[in-house]
Amino acid sequence: MNITLRPNNLDAFWMPYTANRSFKASPRLLARAEGVFYYTPEGREVLDGTAGLWCVNAGHGRREIAEAIKAQADVMDFAPTFQMGHPIAFEAAARLAEFTPDGLDRIFFTNSGSESADTALKIALAYHRARGEGQRVRLVGRERGYHGCGFGGMSVGGIVANRRQFGAQLPFVDHLPHTHLPEKNRFARGEPEHGAHLADALEDLVKLHGDTIAAVIVEPVAGSTGVLVPPKGYLRRLRELCTRHGILLIFDEVITGFSRLGAGFAAEHFGVLPDIITMAKGLTNAAVPMGAVAVTREVYETVLEGSPGGIEFFHGYTYSGHPLAAAAAIASIRIHQEEDLAGRVRDLAPYWQEAAHSLRGAPFVTDIRDCGLIAGVELEPVKDRPTERGMRVLQRCFDDGLLVRVTGDIVALSPPLTIERRHVDRIFDTLDRALRKEAA
Ligand SMILES: Cc1ncc(COP(=O)(O)O)c(C=O)c1O
Repeated sequence: MNITLRPNNLDAFWMPYTANRSFKASPRLLARAEGVFYYTPEGREVLDGTAGLWCVNAGHGRREIAEAIKAQADVMDFAPTFQMGHPIAFEAAARLAEFTPDGLDRIFFTNSGSESADTALKIALAYHRARGEGQRVRLVGRERGYHGCGFGGMSVGGIVANRRQFGAQLPFVDHLPHTHLPEKNRFARGEPEHGAHLADALEDLVKLHGDTIAAVIVEPVAGSTGVLVPPKGYLRRLRELCTRHGILLIFDEVITGFSRLGAGFAAEHFGVLPDIITMAKGLTNAAVPMGAVAVTREVYETVLEGSPGGIEFFHGYTYSGHPLAAAAAIASIRIHQEEDLAGRVRDLAPYWQEAAHSLRGAPFVTDIRDCGLIAGVELEPVKDRPTERGMRVLQRCFDDGLLVRVTGDIVALSPPLTIERRHVDRIFDTLDRALRKEAA
């Protein structure tokens, strides 16, 4: 079977987070990928401005990863990790523990960012119960946060559209205000100046809820709601408040992890250490689904020692530590280390920032934000028809050979970290052309 053939029937696949009717009326298909490019079924080259979905950080078609997966598939397709183990899962955890920030070196494997978020929330609840603070049942997220689409992640998440269709949410959830202050921080480069005080809203929640808060979960840089970079000092303040009030701090690093900001993790980039980090995407370079939760030894040991014996944490997935995913993770981590992808990002980030901000003054651009190799370009919506301009710009870019992601009317860019300057130029030139056509 030639899998690059264009399918002639699009009916059966109920596509995720997609306007199925309009997509199927006018599909955009990707059939092959290599380096920083996708190719359509007709063979047209499309520069990947989004690393797939913020996940193919080391670039497409990495032979080292494909070969590691193939080799493992030949040795052993699957083995359980409930009451049994297999060497490559332990090896993947050990390699990952070397790559995660110092102090976060106990690893729970999942299959996705959503599962990582729900796992981290459950670890936080189990931790407090184990140390005799079982009254801490409340989970705090943030407006405009995204933590996947499980019930836990959805509930602590702060995206209205993702919640209102479903009614029931987790009880005992509250939210911090988002950190987006366009009137003060518009066109800020990197971390904006204003807004560290927004972390103090946690003090108000503590006054309201007393000692019942178990954890705060935030994305260091909110990706899915349009690249919201934390104001200077904000994450540090949040860390201090969590420590002062006995609350665990969880960083959701599904997007910011794996060298995206110029360090292995955002925790290192911002110099703020959480108690728990969730990750997925870049962990395996997206070649096989895998997520993980890294916790401090203190968290791990507390949960273990709080248990009377037997199973200490009643949680896990059939595919936690799946051999093929473990093989992909080991190969992916090695690429990050050997090619120093974080160093590459640090070198390229000033050029990226300059190129992104060159769009200031282009039609409809109301704000530009950046951090590491991420940029968000916010557009003025069509009056009374939010998202329409964003989707039209996405289509124009795709027709012109560039894949971008839009969230509402914000264009989000997060290319493979192997990108070069000429590709950076092409990304912003193409986007500029799309905006000018939009204005014509
Ligand atoms: C910060 C964050 N958390 C969680 C998720 C969910 O990951 P997944 O789609 O793998 O479940 C995402 C996905 O984009 C994300 O950006």
